[in-house]
Amino acid sequence: MAEQLWGGRFSKSTDEMINDFQASIDFDKRMYAEDIAGSIAHATMLAKVGIISEADRDAIIAGLKDIYEKIEEGNFSFEVALEDIHMNIEKRLTDAIGDAGGRLHTARSRNDQVALDTHMFIRRQVVEVQKLILDMQKALVETAEKYSDVIMPGYTHLQRAQPVLFSHHMMAYFSMLKRDFDRFVGVYERCDIMPLGAGALAGTTFPIDRKYVAEQLNFENIYSNSLDAVSDRDYIMEFLSAASILMVHLSRLSEETILWCSREFFFIELDDAHCTGSSMMPQKKNPDVSELVRGKTGRVVGHLMAMLSTVKGLPLAYNKDLQEDKEGIFDTIDTIKFSLAVYARILRGMKVRPEVMRRAVAEDFSNATDLADYLVKKGMPFRQAHAVSGKAVHHCIEENKWLADMSMTEFKDLSDLFDEDIYDAISPETCVKNRNSYGGTSYGQVEMQLQQAHGIMDLE
Ligand code: ARG
Repeated sequence: MAEQLWGGRFSKSTDEMINDFQASIDFDKRMYAEDIAGSIAHATMLAKVGIISEADRDAIIAGLKDIYEKIEEGNFSFEVALEDIHMNIEKRLTDAIGDAGGRLHTARSRNDQVALDTHMFIRRQVVEVQKLILDMQKALVETAEKYSDVIMPGYTHLQRAQPVLFSHHMMAYFSMLKRDFDRFVGVYERCDIMPLGAGALAGTTFPIDRKYVAEQLNFENIYSNSLDAVSDRDYIMEFLSAASILMVHLSRLSEETILWCSREFFFIELDDAHCTGSSMMPQKKNPDVSELVRGKTGRVVGHLMAMLSTVKGLPLAYNKDLQEDKEGIFDTIDTIKFSLAVYARILRGMKVRPEVMRRAVAEDFSNATDLADYLVKKGMPFRQAHAVSGKAVHHCIEENKWLADMSMTEFKDLSDLFDEDIYDAISPETCVKNRNSYGGTSYGQVEMQLQQAHGIMDLE
């Protein structure tokens, strides 16, 4: 068993089961690149201010680069006895270069080291997540543009409510993803604070140059309180919150995708390559991806809850409970990246059935508001017009017909204000075209959203 780096005050080596329980190397090895980059910056700073010699610095950097290559090649054996990624690397370095390796940890604790690594890791991942959000936004815009004049029922309470453009519906998700993108900008900012130099909790007696470390690692800010630096997990909670909200959006889209490709709706068809069949029922084509994304949403929300609950009762500063942050972070990153990438693909392969959507609008009463609005424009107060339109719907239900099937006489029986132009006023195209208020579903308003979207995507 490898010797512990902190073994001095102990008269026994760690119980193996206890060590298995407390070690984090199985998962935190994912942060090796950050750990090595952080150590190189730290060693460079130690030499600059004269805490270690330039020769030691050079040996440390060369040794760390060698370890980096070995890990990349898969030639590094991680040892559970060395607990975590920080000590695995430091121990290996010291084995390789001797005393110089033992000087690397001067003026540093694993508490500020792990904080540094995690900040850098999330910061890097946030940029990748943002790229994937952007690509999914592009897929939404492509889909909206491909079916730009398709009309579908818009719903409230899952009851057909008013006709909308399918593209308007797609662009609603674009807007949600835009806010997700912006939330990750905020997460990045809160990750962009450099904790190293806080030591275990109180700072250090050495004349370190934290600004120099921050510059080397491209950090915009530095923690101004050492206790805060080692115990802050806000950026993780924020990351998990932003990820949870993003997943909730994908989950809502999934729910709609699942509904829409059911025989009951039949609005869309997913690509055969994106669905699976049933081992028993030969006719089945299941939207598994959407179901899984909806399912995985619970998992990501769970990671957020776990983190909030973990931090909730912790006294300052570092407590080992905080090690519990990693698996949730890693799993969340993997889940949201995969979900975003897969969803962009689903959208690009999706086919819309315009005639089915059109029929769902025509064979319903989702133009009843337009009928009322028609009367209002002819001078009737809205409340009264609402009642007349309600009566018209009631009449149609009794007569087993739709509003557009009513004769002029039937309309006139309800109000003198009706004229021949009522038929055009309640056609699905007119219903859509006339909702031209800012942000509405009219062709012009949706076109404007699409133009803004192109502007945003070019910028980001
Ligand atoms: N592996 C630990 C973590 O992920 C960092 C080490 C700090 N441990 C300690 N005993 N001070 O949080």
